[in-house]
Amino acid sequence: MLKKGQFKNAVKMNNIEKYFGHTAALKGVNFGVGANEVVGLVGDNGAGKSTLIKIITGVFPPTNGEIYIRDKKVSLRNYNVKQAYKLGIEAVYQDKSLGEKQDLWRNFFIGRQITDRLGFIKVREEKEIARKIMFDMIGFRGVGISAESKANKLSGGERQGIAIGRAMYFDADLIILDEPTSALSLKEVQKVLNFVRKIKESGKACIYISHILSDVYEISDKLIILDRGKVVATIKKSEVTLKKLSEFMLKYAHAK
Ligand SMILES: Nc1ncnc2c1ncn2[C@@H]1O[C@H](COP(=O)(O)OP(=O)(O)OP(=O)(O)O)[C@@H](O)[C@H]1O
Ligand SMILES: [Mg+2]
Repeated sequence: MLKKGQFKNAVKMNNIEKYFGHTAALKGVNFGVGANEVVGLVGDNGAGKSTLIKIITGVFPPTNGEIYIRDKKVSLRNYNVKQAYKLGIEAVYQDKSLGEKQDLWRNFFIGRQITDRLGFIKVREEKEIARKIMFDMIGFRGVGISAESKANKLSGGERQGIAIGRAMYFDADLIILDEPTSALSLKEVQKVLNFVRKIKESGKACIYISHILSDVYEISDKLIILDRGKVVATIKKSEVTLKKLSEFMLKYAHAK
């Protein structure tokens, strides 16, 4: 039984089609993410992964199909980035969302300041919240990092961490990470994978897109494989080994 306000699926999509001109980027896609599920979305370059998540985040509408968020059907005519955000969906892209020369705590509250009745920013409160989330919850450990560190002094993994911390604090139900580790060192990648584990522990859902199959396998509950715009497999992690998955994926690696 679900309690009031709870839901079964963070997102569910039926029969999604997306055309860019004559190019069919997505064809008959059925896709779902449970309320507390980490879904690894994999597939070769151009498979349609980013297109699929941009439809979920309201960047553009599908040509056809249905979307349910938190078990409720959305009206595609009124669906956009703002609406997705209101429905608890956050997407994290590397580098793009941070003010380089601003303090960590300012970055944390960009666009969503806590203000007093006169409209002044409550600096002390914001710093304290940012500190709590980043250090206690996300587990920032870097030497010399504080809530006042500038974003451009942080490592790539830590920058991802701020974005994920924001998504957690502002209580997103579904956090989408599209290739968050592509520019990171091995150690930094581990940090990002740990963040995804925290998302899971905190009862939220995540879609994780990456070409590094072993990373995706490690953190996912379910794997969805896209190939040239179609879902070719939806597999529970418990039903497949990494080796089997890698072999399976080879079938869908297309020569360029
Ligand atoms: N805005 C757009 N206009 C036209 N075609 C697009 C657009 N976005 C994506 N496409 C096309 O849709 C297909 C799927 O692209 P998409 O970016 O979703 O792939 P992907 O799986 O994210 O690939 P990668 O792993 O390289 O990021 C590609 O053929 C791409 O060229
Ligand atoms: Mg992509």
